[in-house]
Amino acid sequence: MSIFITFEGGEGSGKTTVIDSLYRNLLNMGHQVLKTREPGGSRISEEIRNIILNVKNVEMDYRTEALLYAASRRQHLIEVIIPALKAGKIVLCDRYIDSSLAYQGTARGLGIEEIYRINQYATEGILPKLTFYIDLKPEIGLSRIKNSSRIPDRLDLEANSFHETVRQGYLKIANMFPERIRIIDGNRPVEVIEKEIMDIILEVI
Ligand code: TYD
Repeated sequence: MSIFITFEGGEGSGKTTVIDSLYRNLLNMGHQVLKTREPGGSRISEEIRNIILNVKNVEMDYRTEALLYAASRRQHLIEVIIPALKAGKIVLCDRYIDSSLAYQGTARGLGIEEIYRINQYATEGILPKLTFYIDLKPEIGLSRIKNSSRIPDRLDLEANSFHETVRQGYLKIANMFPERIRIIDGNRPVEVIEKEIMDIILEVI
């Protein structure tokens, strides 16, 4: 059965590790699964991603940033997500519309409603069936990144207050869409988080 599932969280929330593990386990159970990520996941989307995240692009206007994310999302949806859903796959996508609502809508101050509108246009209203928001204090997430070998991108380099606002944004959005978005406590071992999410997915599919 095809189902569109997205994962959201701040920097260092562990969502990528959790997705990798869910992906392997669902495959082992015999499901057809696609794992993908935003921004990116297709050639054009990856090129847009490089423009957005390039640390050199300090003069980027916030609305330009929001439009580029929406454009990248559109291309990835058309080229990658919709074909996989049509082929009957479970689609696990690292970030989608809620990232824009939290980062651009809330942390950049452009407004959740406005960002929702441009994304309605970009996605023609296609929303995930389920979204897991892995909630974690930004101090903890950012310290995990500092201790890893990952090179910080343009958004990682924002002040702590930015990441705190991202979190408040996510919690607000989760309240706006309680049916779709599940809040997952990210301050636990990956195995525990993965099991909680897997149980929910298996219940839904
Ligand atoms: P990425 O390297 O994918 O980060 P992570 O591993 O944390 O998912 O970088 C994506 C960055 O882009 C991340 O800082 C969040 C940000 N972002 C937005 O601001 N708006 C969006 O719509 C999306 C998809 C991502």
